[in-house]
Amino acid sequence: MFDFLKKNKKPEPIFEILGTDMHNHLVPCVDDGSRSAEESIECIRTMQQLGYKRMYITPHFQFPRFPNDEDDIRQRYESLKKTLAENGVTMELVGVAGEYRIDDSFAHRMETSRFLKIDDKYVLVELSLHQQRMGVEEVIFDLHVKGYEVILAHPERYPYFNVHSPMMEHLKEQGVLFQLNVLSLGGFYGEGAQRRAFDLLNAGWVEFLGTDMHNTMYAHALCDLSHNRKVRKALEKYQFMNSTL
Ligand SMILES: [Fe+2]
Repeated sequence: MFDFLKKNKKPEPIFEILGTDMHNHLVPCVDDGSRSAEESIECIRTMQQLGYKRMYITPHFQFPRFPNDEDDIRQRYESLKKTLAENGVTMELVGVAGEYRIDDSFAHRMETSRFLKIDDKYVLVELSLHQQRMGVEEVIFDLHVKGYEVILAHPERYPYFNVHSPMMEHLKEQGVLFQLNVLSLGGFYGEGAQRRAFDLLNAGWVEFLGTDMHNTMYAHALCDLSHNRKVRKALEKYQFMNSTL
């Protein structure tokens, strides 16, 4: 009966409590995220309505699909910042980092070591969404030896992992910080990811929340999510480190 009202409901600023988003793809045209400055502006304005005040942008670095280069990304990020200012967007862009896929090219990346980091210390890494990879713990060990802290992006999205997987436990023992996608809590990536997301929260294994915003479809999904009582409760119940960034 009230469906038409629900569709037009204004987004609630439920992410004010986090303050900072630290995972999204809003540098235009460098990966599978935003396709134009206009789209980035629309997404960022929505994020402001949802309560976000600050953000890092984290394009994919994944060879050969997204063969991004740190210097080029930095330049594009600065140009986006300028465009946002010209359009009166007041979101504070704190920095640009990368979402680095641990893949065959990662060993080379380690040697050249030009990681774009969050807060000058965190390297955001992701794994294959389909297949478990051997040797991830060794990569994490090497990153720690080099003095980086490691954040694993969306652990709930890997179907071969759950809170009972020995490898996940091992990553936690190694000190890897976990970043959950907020949209997983609303079922955006399916029931399995949703269940794993709540299991991870209950286990106390989640340090950061990220939007992983790619485009306006994600922005609309986040607006819907802002009316979700379970999500609101989770934001109040658990402590996240987003506000430290
Ligand atoms: Fe991402």
